[in-house]
Amino acid sequence: MIKKCLFPVGGYGTRFLPATKAMAKEMLPIVNKPLVQYGVEEALEAGLDNIGFVTGRGKRAIADHFDISFELESQIAGTSKEKYLTSIRDVMDNAIFSFTRQNEMKGLGHAILTGETLIGNEPFGVVLADDLCVPEPGEDNVLAQMVKIYKQFRCSVVAVMEVPEDQIHKYGVIKGEEMKEGLYRIEDMVEKPKNEEAPSNLAIIGRYILTPDIFDILRDTPPGINNEVQITDALLKQAKDGCVLAYKLKGTRFDCGSVGGFVEATNYVFENVYKEP
Ligand code: UTP
Repeated sequence: MIKKCLFPVGGYGTRFLPATKAMAKEMLPIVNKPLVQYGVEEALEAGLDNIGFVTGRGKRAIADHFDISFELESQIAGTSKEKYLTSIRDVMDNAIFSFTRQNEMKGLGHAILTGETLIGNEPFGVVLADDLCVPEPGEDNVLAQMVKIYKQFRCSVVAVMEVPEDQIHKYGVIKGEEMKEGLYRIEDMVEKPKNEEAPSNLAIIGRYILTPDIFDILRDTPPGINNEVQITDALLKQAKDGCVLAYKLKGTRFDCGSVGGFVEATNYVFENVYKEP
């Protein structure tokens, strides 16, 4: 059973400056909910209720968001406005939260290794909350789809999607053997390749199921591109020594770490997902 989910939220969010100067990018709202709450709701729906955050400086609002706000709550208790708190109360009632801090921003791989203390020796999910994934109506969310794959194959699983050729240089890209429709056994991975050198059009997005041996691999992984410890480098080692699967997600994914993706997500959620409380 996978019960734990790690949220690395230490990044600087430079693409959203100045909005992210004093505020975490994961607190940017898509309509009425911060990005990070969508991510936590996805984890809870997938059965992962033990939520660990790897935070950094200037990220206190995330911890406050998932804590009781006595003054606010007592002010609006019993009034018509109380309904606006329903969704966050549901999350708080159903999840356990823990926090650790990444002192230096040395990359996603380093952030995940920092989270080892919250995870221990068990398989776990990773959600990058700035990747918003909206499932098709009536279907499992992406993390839940991946948990099913993990239960069948018992190895690390990364979510991938097809991206246009001129965008591929922004992503980690896989080369894999298709085992069945939409499921690949990874043979190679390249972080941010030149468009013409990408091994496929399948890009890794911000959902992972990882087996805990990834921590030892990360400890031995030197900084890679941009001088950051890359999770892709560690996953490639795991793939070569054993098995890592890539799962082509079903649903729509928005890159909310970019301004264009954020605006698209806002419009989409307002039109298709949002319900007035
Ligand atoms: P991004 O590449 O989106 O980086 O990181 P960023 O710093 O947040 O955003 P930009 O590029 O400056 O605009 C992917 C994910 O990894 C986390 C980020 O919080 C984000 O969820 N991350 C990245 C960390 O937690 N620590 C790091 O050292 C780097």
